Amino acid sequence: MEKREIIMDCDPGTDDAIALAYAAAHTEELKLLAITTVSGNQSVEKVTVNALRLAEFYNLDVPVAKGMDTPLTREPVYASKFHGETGLGQCVLPAASRKAEEEHAVLFLHRLLAELPEGKKVTIVATGPLTNIAMLLKLFPQVKKHIREIVFMGGAAMGGNVTPTAEFNIYTDPEAARIVFRSGVPLVMCGLDATLKCTLKRKQIIKLCQSGNPAAGLCGDLAGYSLENTSNKYRGEVSIHDVVPLMYLLHPDIFKIQSTILDVDCSDGPARGTTLCDFRWWEHEEEEMDAFILMDADGTRFQEELITDIYELGERIKRQKEEGMHS
Ligand code: BDR
Ligand code: CA
Repeated sequence: MEKREIIMDCDPGTDDAIALAYAAAHTEELKLLAITTVSGNQSVEKVTVNALRLAEFYNLDVPVAKGMDTPLTREPVYASKFHGETGLGQCVLPAASRKAEEEHAVLFLHRLLAELPEGKKVTIVATGPLTNIAMLLKLFPQVKKHIREIVFMGGAAMGGNVTPTAEFNIYTDPEAARIVFRSGVPLVMCGLDATLKCTLKRKQIIKLCQSGNPAAGLCGDLAGYSLENTSNKYRGEVSIHDVVPLMYLLHPDIFKIQSTILDVDCSDGPARGTTLCDFRWWEHEEEEMDAFILMDADGTRFQEELITDIYELGERIKRQKEEGMHS
């Protein structure tokens, strides 16, 4: 089977960092072409440093390009409580030997996609605000033919996490989300309706931390930070939101999927950043319901898949390190 080629546009971020681990664990099925970064959980400078370090830690040999440093129309508001001042909680990773690309992420994405052979398509997995992707689609609409789909973490059909109705990634840059939603590119929205069910529990996190496995240790520490420093500590579990788009690509059977028409509130009122999911099939032609949304998830399956794969990644990292020492 041909590998699905993906680009990860992200803002690591504790859960973005675990999503990168999950991508690294699946190099058999997913070919990661590049990582692009965007202002979101922390400044674009910080999340780019994190992406470079994480890529090296997971032995991912991919280019990293730094993208937009603010949302399209507003000042950034970072998620320091959830992700810490560096974006990676209290984890300190070794400095990366590789540098970010010279090119801005939007230009880098354009070049990467424009150079693909006719008929070739790539999946964009977006786990931060949609600022880079909106810029790409506005400036270079001709690359749409090379985008198979955009699978993004963001939004919610019901209930937000930064306001009563808005989710962080979409709330941070609703104008960008609107450009992406109206672009005509196939969309899969992995919003809070599903990601809130996709958690790691405290006991599982403690086990990861104590395992002596490098990937598990890191992912345990990252998840543990977001668990213990937020109200999740009373919940006893924390959502690993950003793994969900990748989990959907590999295990769609874990999710309940519905088709919809997506829009977003870009007003200055209390609903700013709320995703509007129109399920009224009787009002629309079937082909207008052109976006998919994950409405529910099997949390136990999610945990089993994620934990197993993180351990396997860690074992591989250990082997590769030993082989490196002996060569
Ligand atoms: C999303 O917001 C960010 O803080 C996380 O990294 C995730 O992408 C969840 O609402
Ligand atoms: Ca994120």
